[in-house]
Amino acid sequence: MAVSKIAVLGAGLMGHGIAQVAAQFAKTEVYLTDAKQELLDRGVKMIESSLERFVKKGDLTTDESAKIRSRIHPVTSLGDAVRDVDLVIEVVPEDIELKRRLLSEVDRKIRNDTIIASNTSSLSITMLAKATRRTEKFCGMHFFNPPQLMKLVEIVRGNKTSDETVQVVKELAERMGKDPVVVKKDAPGFIVNRILVPALNEAIALVQEGVADPADIDKAIKLGLNWPMGPLALSDYIGLDTVLAMSNVVSKATKQGRGTALLRKMVKSSRLGRKSGKGFFDWPEKGG
Ligand code: CAA
Repeated sequence: MAVSKIAVLGAGLMGHGIAQVAAQFAKTEVYLTDAKQELLDRGVKMIESSLERFVKKGDLTTDESAKIRSRIHPVTSLGDAVRDVDLVIEVVPEDIELKRRLLSEVDRKIRNDTIIASNTSSLSITMLAKATRRTEKFCGMHFFNPPQLMKLVEIVRGNKTSDETVQVVKELAERMGKDPVVVKKDAPGFIVNRILVPALNEAIALVQEGVADPADIDKAIKLGLNWPMGPLALSDYIGLDTVLAMSNVVSKATKQGRGTALLRKMVKSSRLGRKSGKGFFDWPEKGG
């Protein structure tokens, strides 16, 4: 099956970018939905400003940008978004109960042959799949932030995912301009977050212990390891609530990378990084 129509559930930091790359590179029709009109409007605004950046750079003409935008259909009704699509990509917050409730509802509203992919960054694909009656047509499709620029997609098999599902989702990821890898076993954190999350928590522990200032910790890793962003700026960029959610899951498998006390304190006081304007650093363009 070649995917030509998709639904993206969630228009936040990741969802808007995934919807955009599907419309921009894979040229699919995209039904984008979120729980509230204002969240949907915000997602559409982020897509439009990202398209503008591509136009400014000369990577897209205004005509091409308008065509991409016209392939994205923002809708508030979940039923309207998913009714006739080939693939649903779930991109809602990392709350297993919220995801399972939504997936079970979606499962009842879609065609029998529709595949569901979750962009979860760390929850078990097998557990999420069990909320549906299509465990063989369910997999992880994990994008990296910002989805418009990052080349990797982890395609994660649950314990019942069929080879055909993996193949269809892999082909779509390639049409989106990505270079996917297949994660054969549904293990916490998959590949990247299993390695990244302990590293981010070690950087936060260095702040907590007063070993160095945040700017110097980031400078050390940028210059010493050639990371494009230091681990603290990257944590702010991902969202500290997401880093904490990932830490809670990954630490169970690795016994490392537990959300440090400082991380938990910052999340509790809504200091979430870029999305709230303040994290380890100040982010004046909130949510940009
Ligand atoms: N849409 C379109 N273009 C964009 C864009 C967007 N959303 N964001 C940035 N750009 C463009 C900019 O316009 C700029 O273009 P020019 O070079 O032509 O000027 C270019 O990308 C670089 O952007 P910036 O100058 O703003 O900043 P930068 O050079 O630092 O690059 C970055 C930004 C690509 C994000 C880079 O810092 C980077 O690679 N950072 C690390 C990102 C990373 O590690 N992501 C993974 C996070 S982990 C994750 O996502 C997993 C998870 O489960 C949470």
